[in-house]
Amino acid sequence: MIDFQVRHYERLGSTNDEAQRLAAEGAPHGTVVHTDEQTAGRGRLSRRWLSPPGNLYLSIVLRPDVAPARVAEIGFLAALAVADAVDALLPRQLRATLKWPNDVLVSDGKIAGILAEQAGDAVILGIGLDVLQAPTGLSYKVSTIVGCGGLATVDGARDRVLAALANWMNVWEQDGFAAIRAAWLARAHPVGSALSVQMGDRFINGLFAGLDDEGALLLDDQEARHRIVAGDVQLR
Ligand code: BTN
Repeated sequence: MIDFQVRHYERLGSTNDEAQRLAAEGAPHGTVVHTDEQTAGRGRLSRRWLSPPGNLYLSIVLRPDVAPARVAEIGFLAALAVADAVDALLPRQLRATLKWPNDVLVSDGKIAGILAEQAGDAVILGIGLDVLQAPTGLSYKVSTIVGCGGLATVDGARDRVLAALANWMNVWEQDGFAAIRAAWLARAHPVGSALSVQMGDRFINGLFAGLDDEGALLLDDQEARHRIVAGDVQLR
């Protein structure tokens, strides 16, 4: 099992940047960078990640024994881990769901985002989880643990996320991406769901046809099956 070593900071630009710096200095597998707030939090597709105090911002240095082409798999297992942690903190009737590629949703609002980046021979796994503070001014609906009636402290949420991550890393190492993909599909929009995928200024509407064995989204429209590696998904 992975042994996490947590380094706590009051404020950073981005935990992914600090974890990348530590990785370049040789920080071991399982080094965790946790901060109370970020001044330059980064999201997918070069977006900002609003990071006021009251939420969880962490990045983990991982040194998995797999080819760089498999980094994307880590985003899927991390989404499963965050969803398990969120479930444990929410009232019993609410369950986290997943949206491609790595969003964790509760009651249709995004509650967590994941950013896995290659950094030399390490992978930096960044996780942002809205615990107490709902960021404002976003173009999509957000949820927080406490706003959904859950009970959590930021440190408590961190410990649950790390425990669940250790579990899903273990599944990945033992059973490979096929097991992660099956578990992810069981918590995501069902196959056949009508999705709209935005890639830059291009949209494709179609029906969700699952994930390929690299985690790419498969979308069927009347003309073809599309294989999508980066984009934003809306459920129609
Ligand atoms: C997304 O766009 O959904 C991914 C968001 C990832 C945000 C986290 S917060 C901790 C880590 N540090 C960053 O700068 N980004 C990630």
